[in-house]
Amino acid sequence: MFHAPILPRARKRSRPVEAAVPRREGVKFEDVRLYLVERKMGRSRRSFLTHLARSKGFIVDDVLSDEVTHVVSEDSQASSLWKWLQECVPKNLPNMRVLDISWFTDSMREGRPVAVETRHLIQDTLPEVPTPTSVSTVSQYACQRRTTTENNNKILTDAFEVLAESYEFNELEGPCLAFRRAASVLKSLPRALQRVEETQDLPCLGEHTKAVMEEILQYGHAFEVEKILSDERYQTLKLFTSVFGVGPKTAEKWYRRGLRSFSAALADRSIHLNRMQQSGFLHYGDISRAVSKAEAQALRSIIDEAVHAITSDAVLALTGGFCRGKEFGHDVDFIVTTPELGKEESLLPSLINRLTKQGILLYCDYQASTFDLSKLPSRSFEAMDHFAKCFLILRLKDSQVEGGLHIAEGDSRGWRAVRVDLVSPPMDRFAFALLGWTGSRQFERDLRRFARLERHMLLDNHALYDKTKQEFLTATTEKDIFAHLGLEYIEPCQRNA
Ligand code: UTP
Ligand code: MG
Repeated sequence: MFHAPILPRARKRSRPVEAAVPRREGVKFEDVRLYLVERKMGRSRRSFLTHLARSKGFIVDDVLSDEVTHVVSEDSQASSLWKWLQECVPKNLPNMRVLDISWFTDSMREGRPVAVETRHLIQDTLPEVPTPTSVSTVSQYACQRRTTTENNNKILTDAFEVLAESYEFNELEGPCLAFRRAASVLKSLPRALQRVEETQDLPCLGEHTKAVMEEILQYGHAFEVEKILSDERYQTLKLFTSVFGVGPKTAEKWYRRGLRSFSAALADRSIHLNRMQQSGFLHYGDISRAVSKAEAQALRSIIDEAVHAITSDAVLALTGGFCRGKEFGHDVDFIVTTPELGKEESLLPSLINRLTKQGILLYCDYQASTFDLSKLPSRSFEAMDHFAKCFLILRLKDSQVEGGLHIAEGDSRGWRAVRVDLVSPPMDRFAFALLGWTGSRQFERDLRRFARLERHMLLDNHALYDKTKQEFLTATTEKDIFAHLGLEYIEPCQRNA
């Protein structure tokens, strides 16, 4: 039987503990409240560790209450520990992290609460084991969830994405993001949800999301989603934004002019199409068709050969959706650079030159670098980073692709047009650029949000800045960045949030 330390029982939520333990000077981590279990640890070691943690800015409570967020124990008898915890703090136990001493030592070494990893957890061995979808296992941040390309809740996430897009067209950022977050949480679940009650402990699911979900689970579709899908404005904006170079603003302008189809847009003399949109219409059939993995590999070989012909020390990395293991994508994304700083600046222009000579460049929008180290860190995230980049349309031949092109039956041209993006950061920015371009967009958003809110750091495609230490943190690999953020490393194939 587990013997609790001789301490009063848990108190109710009216913050009595704060009265007993006045807020100390030098508290650095307001949202983390530790409790060290005395059993096995012993009174003097507990007292020593308490002082140590407090000296590093941690809040350590002497009393176990519902306010505690992290319980640390050296006791290996999990069942008796859990039984005792359940008696003391039955209400808030599901929200507490019950941790092995290794989490505490890691945190002391780092001087901050490190991210909780599976190895730190003392597993609950009581009969009522939390379901895999309970709050203790699903984080509100996509960068703390593992999301493969296998989506077990597609029927729900497709509906959420329609709603998110519709809000985006109406410039309602809040609800748009809420549905994107909800879709992302469901994508990470290991199985299909059957009943809305199963989502009780999941983060990021509000009343509206749950109502839509309930309708879909019951009837197979939701009225609100059906209404959007049949709405003329939504359909037209979807159609126009599917053209390369046409964003929501342009699509809205055309819609307001009464245009409803491509033929109407192309016939309207008052509309001036820019070069990108002209190419978008010209190659519409090809570039609105998904790019296959085999086609992405073929393009990799073509670009690899070209950059190495320019400079033998070129570094090429496949990034974007294909790096995350997707079978199909809307484009193929690459990072190219060279180890010698500054030399990367001439790389894209030379590559473009070469592809032109090879006769495979159908469209090119090159943007020179505007990267300026002295302007970092950037407080506001910009959709585009400052590295040199180019948005291309390349001509890919059937003979270059293993198993042939992914084209419509009866298409006998023997080639297709494919969208390719290339970005060229200086080598010392490679890891940040790779992390930023590997995506998914939701994974990136949550990495930045996690860095800002949980670590007081600023992350973007260029750098990671620690606001507490007021310094930039260097990284040569993605793993370095996850480590700086105190996050468990997530492989690209698990970033399909
Ligand atoms: P994509 O739009 O290519 O998305 O951007 P994807 O994940 O590869 O999926 P597909 O292509 O639709 O199949 C890839 C990543 O690059 C980032 C985006 O945020 C995304 O995570 N990106 C893109 C930038 O960081 N900066 C840019 O200027 C463009
Ligand atoms: Mg892509």
